[in-house]
Amino acid sequence: MKVIIINGSPRNQGITATTLHVLEKELLDSGVKVDFVSLAEIEMAHCLGCCSCFMTGHCCIRDDAEKLSELIAEADGIILGTPTYASNVSGLMKDFIDRGHFVIEQLLHGKACVIVATGENYGNKDAAKVLKKLVIYSGGKLSGSIVFKAPFNIMATEKQVVDHGGKNSRIEYRDFRNDALNHINKKCRKAARKMIRDMHSGKAHPMQSLIHFIVLNIGIRSFVRKKGKLYQGVIDKWTKLGIYGSFHFSMRTTYEVAYGILDSLCCMRFKHVIMITSHADPQHQIAVEKDVWKS
Ligand SMILES: Cc1cc2nc3c(=O)[nH]c(=O)nc-3n(C[C@H](O)[C@H](O)[C@H](O)COP(=O)(O)O)c2cc1C
Repeated sequence: MKVIIINGSPRNQGITATTLHVLEKELLDSGVKVDFVSLAEIEMAHCLGCCSCFMTGHCCIRDDAEKLSELIAEADGIILGTPTYASNVSGLMKDFIDRGHFVIEQLLHGKACVIVATGENYGNKDAAKVLKKLVIYSGGKLSGSIVFKAPFNIMATEKQVVDHGGKNSRIEYRDFRNDALNHINKKCRKAARKMIRDMHSGKAHPMQSLIHFIVLNIGIRSFVRKKGKLYQGVIDKWTKLGIYGSFHFSMRTTYEVAYGILDSLCCMRFKHVIMITSHADPQHQIAVEKDVWKS
């Protein structure tokens, strides 16, 4: 098993990098091979918008960003981390998203993914949303998302000044580093475990699979078909992944989605639920009864 961790913060000692290194340690301790890449340290030009990658399957700029995309295609899992900049991902991360062949080439197809978004005030959820969408639209499985707020430079500053404000305003000096690390450790352990489980089981996440199904089959497929030879690079990649052709919705995914819907109905306290889904092959007909499912 191999995971690639990508740090989208320009600061290698910041809270984003700290969180990503904790995840790295959790994975290494479980015997997973890890490559840690800081986008600030690689050679990465902006996307030129030439669209030649759609036709050829590779970027016309042969720099480290292109090599990193090739590494991601071979990995079993990806972790993407970013600080929040103006309620969005960092410029470095955005450049990599533009260069990385993610959505149109389905780069993360079937891979387990974790996203990390840090911020100090407002907007970290928006940054996280960008990464979550990227993962799901690119065919990845979102095993975990670590999204939290922390004072800027928290890991580098021994004592932070705190003003409790209000009528009884008083200034206090506090060391938040241990609090932050405890918080990060707990979240990272949980996400790393889930990621390892997802890499081993190959199980789909029902809701995510459904969203991906809609995006791929309704949003992208006919668009790519219409482009024909201009998108030959994309078609070749889809063929390699086994997703070119008509609607792509594997039997496994069908089961997962059916079970997911059934489970939700059970939670809604329906007394008796029978779900029948059909497939062209009669052997694939499933009849699931709530009581059987529950047992
Ligand atoms: C240019 C810039 C813009 C920022 N914009 C936001 C923001 O919109 N919302 C927020 O919560 N924090 C914002 N921050 C704070 C950082 O997101 C936050 O401190 C982050 O955790 C820093 O991560 P790092 O230590 O890995 O660099 C901004 C910081 C910078 C330098």
